Amino acid sequence: MPKVRGRSLRVLFDAGTIAARNRELAKEIAAAGYRDLLVVSILKGSFVFAADLIRALHDVGMAPEVEFISLSSYKTAKVSSGKVTLLRDVESDVADRDVLIIDDILESGRTLAYAKKLLAKRGARRVGVAVLLHKPGKLAQPFVAEHVGFVVPDLFVVGYGMDAAHAFRELPYVGVVEDKPAKKARAGVRGSRVRSWEVRSRRGAGESRRGSRAPAGYRSRREP
Ligand code: IMP
Ligand code: MG
Repeated sequence: MPKVRGRSLRVLFDAGTIAARNRELAKEIAAAGYRDLLVVSILKGSFVFAADLIRALHDVGMAPEVEFISLSSYKTAKVSSGKVTLLRDVESDVADRDVLIIDDILESGRTLAYAKKLLAKRGARRVGVAVLLHKPGKLAQPFVAEHVGFVVPDLFVVGYGMDAAHAFRELPYVGVVEDKPAKKARAGVRGSRVRSWEVRSRRGAGESRRGSRAPAGYRSRREP
């Protein structure tokens, strides 16, 4: 098991498996007949997936334009409010464009439902959705993503752009943090900058994330 930040990571999807799936997804998207495609990547979680997927789209002959949108959903205490907030908007006019929204995970569906409704309201001709991961059984409302990389069980995953309290986005694979923080790490929380990601996660409060339980020491703002 790889160790990162002193924690053991169980790899669910390695870099090669993800790359192969991205190639398949690109073929699927190319076959879906999008015209004049504008890709909209939801920050921050999807930035790595989006970067790889657009290059896979190039490899199958597509030439998408790329935009970014930043959305955040909040919860108070431990209950999700379900409220999604627009933190940063796209810059392009989406009217009469075919749009493909890219996100990391489809879980409750609130983030993607918000994004899809927003772009449709602005006159997008067609709005498709591609997600790297889908955690079934967790939808707060009916929602279908047209293109799904992998179906995953209800585990809190990190890597390949996805974080726990802003940590682990750089991992080239998708994995699960297996072990609890070591005693030494807990001591570090009080003073060490090295463990600042755990300090942040412990503060939790106010803004927090997701339905799936983050591993111990990783509660934080819900970061789309
Ligand atoms: P939802 O579908 O609106 O509930 O939100 C999905 C978003 O929550 C994703 O875009 C991720 O940013 C985040 N998320 C959900 N589950 C996980 C996870 O297991 N690890 C990291 N981020 C997650
Ligand atoms: Mg997200």
